[in-house]
Amino acid sequence: MKPEVRILADPNQLAHEAAVEFARLATDSIKARNVFRVALSGGSTPKSLYSLLANGEPWRSELPWDKLHFFWSDERHVPPDHPDSNFRMANEAMFSKLVIPTENIHRIRGEEDDPAKAADEYKQDLEKSFHLIANQLPRFDLVLLGLGTDGHTASLFPDSDALSEREHFVAANWIAKLNAWRITLTFPLLNNAAHVLFLVSGSEKANILRAVLENDNVNQYPAQSIRPTSGRLLWLVDREAGASLSATVQNSSITK
Ligand code: 6PG
Repeated sequence: MKPEVRILADPNQLAHEAAVEFARLATDSIKARNVFRVALSGGSTPKSLYSLLANGEPWRSELPWDKLHFFWSDERHVPPDHPDSNFRMANEAMFSKLVIPTENIHRIRGEEDDPAKAADEYKQDLEKSFHLIANQLPRFDLVLLGLGTDGHTASLFPDSDALSEREHFVAANWIAKLNAWRITLTFPLLNNAAHVLFLVSGSEKANILRAVLENDNVNQYPAQSIRPTSGRLLWLVDREAGASLSATVQNSSITK
């Protein structure tokens, strides 16, 4: 199924459109199941979304924050106060501006010396939070993802071992080019989500975005393996990131 692509005028419009989508999904999930479970993405792109949700209206006032449970698609192998921490970025942009029950924030413990132990602890938190029975996969209401210029998403980098992980839904992943460990959700879990939302911004992403969305070789980049088995995939990109997309894709994308 061709993914849905929306091209927004600029990063601010991208963040606004993402906030609208986030709030719509949260409202629907809470109406149906009295809870909204979202996996946040890291990096820099989503910071404006997190800040808009926490400070902008109607979201600050109208989202039932006590019914939102926050997880992460991945985390760096660093303490939560480290500049590279995905938790720290979300905390500074969003959590610190709101009153959210601490039990609703499901941090990956990047400070754990053993990244495999951190991955296992996170897996146990997921199993408990989603009330899973044996061999069930968590089904996130929403997974937020970004796109690296090498085609990685979450911490599923090219040539890394976790790309082929199909048994465990959380993995410690050694990233040789970064000389660093990451803890990441793996494809079985990511593709089990009800909704996956990529946020891609900036001219430096134009070439990789076109390659991921339009290459004939659909297994060249990790992000191409994000294909929800029974969920919706939506790409929100700004005009700079979408500049290299073919006219067909551009014309079929709702450009706001
Ligand atoms: C991370 C992210 C990663 C990110 C991309 C894009 O931990 O870094 O999960 O997958 O989404 O690298 O990052 P930018 O938004 O900073 O371009």
